[in-house]
Amino acid sequence: MNNSDKQKPVGGALRDDALKGKAIIITGGGTGLGKAMGIYFLKLGANLVITSRNYNVLKETAAEMEAETGGRAIAITCDVRKYDEVENMLHAAINAFGRVDVLLNNAAGNFISPTERLSANAFSAIIDIVLKGSVNCSLALGKYWIAEKIPGVMLNIITTYAFTGSAYVVPSACAKGGVLALTRSLAVEWGKYGIRTNAIAPGPFPTKGAWDRLLPGELAEKFDFKDKVPLKRVGDHQELANLAAFLVSDSSGYINGEVITIDGGEWLQGAGQFNMLEMVPDEMWEATDKARRG
Ligand code: HXC
Ligand code: NAP
Repeated sequence: MNNSDKQKPVGGALRDDALKGKAIIITGGGTGLGKAMGIYFLKLGANLVITSRNYNVLKETAAEMEAETGGRAIAITCDVRKYDEVENMLHAAINAFGRVDVLLNNAAGNFISPTERLSANAFSAIIDIVLKGSVNCSLALGKYWIAEKIPGVMLNIITTYAFTGSAYVVPSACAKGGVLALTRSLAVEWGKYGIRTNAIAPGPFPTKGAWDRLLPGELAEKFDFKDKVPLKRVGDHQELANLAAFLVSDSSGYINGEVITIDGGEWLQGAGQFNMLEMVPDEMWEATDKARRG
């Protein structure tokens, strides 16, 4: 039996009314991790706006979310690359709920490729969704919060390779690195307005969107993200939702400018110079004991 078999179902970590009355926008909220975090926010009493480019997906997800939680979830189409669409989405959200308290920058685009095989347009496609999209939403919400004197909360979903960089996902690494800089910069500049800005760097959390693009075809048989994680398992969506809910709740009111990694130790396993000794079996440690001590 390995550790992943021993993993107990993960439950919600926050008290039931932790987000009561807060209006939250989640970009890319119709699928994957955005959807999982949204469901938990609704369970904690929040009102939700989910946005992406695909209205049918959003509408279906919003209905599913409301049925599962009894909360209110509204679907609004918005391409985060376009500032006028972001402004329209914000106005629609304010019309629906009276105000917006939280922005979760979660929308992303990604694919794997040797960089020299990418067209300039392919590179821009990712930068535009991830970096420009996060900038557009942060700017629109920041202007609104400052004008209305609302102590808003911004949470950005990045990746661990935002700080390490990564081969074969270079446009995404550049864009997520930019979002990390955005997070730390705005945390300081907008702190005086009571606006908090933080980020989460998730490790592998299986979603169709990510897995189809990052492990397409035979790669899924060749590589298993579990093998790169010291805990020998991938993340459970509820584990991410618990952290996100805490970071957008009032309980984290003094956390600002922080990036919290939730990856089972994955990126550090790739970093430590002697971590490869994990492969040394017990018998070999035994056999070499004398020599090592000598
Ligand atoms: C190389 C590609 C490509 C690929 C598209 N392009 N896919 N190049 N490899 N796999 C090129 C196209 O040829 C085109 O360039 C340019 O990129 C734009 O393509 P479009 O299809 O017009 O772009 P668009 O419609 O904007 O779609 C964006 C997308 C798509 C990123 C390509 O996959 C998408 O909509 N993704 C959204 C969801 C997503 O990616 N989720 C995963 C997030 S996972 P030319 O030159 O031909 O015009 C994530 C996890 C990180 O971030 C960490 C995990 C552990
Ligand atoms: P996902 O389901 O593909 O989510 C991405 C979402 O972004 C989709 O709903 C997509 O909807 C939306 N989106 C893309 N382009 C957009 C645009 N221009 N305007 C508005 N919305 C747009 O993948 P996921 O795994 O849940 O990823 C969610 C977040 O977690 C991303 O930021 C990702 O980088 C991050 N992350 C994921 C993992 C993981 O292991 N899954 C690890 C680290 C970080 P449409 O295409 O319909 O617009």
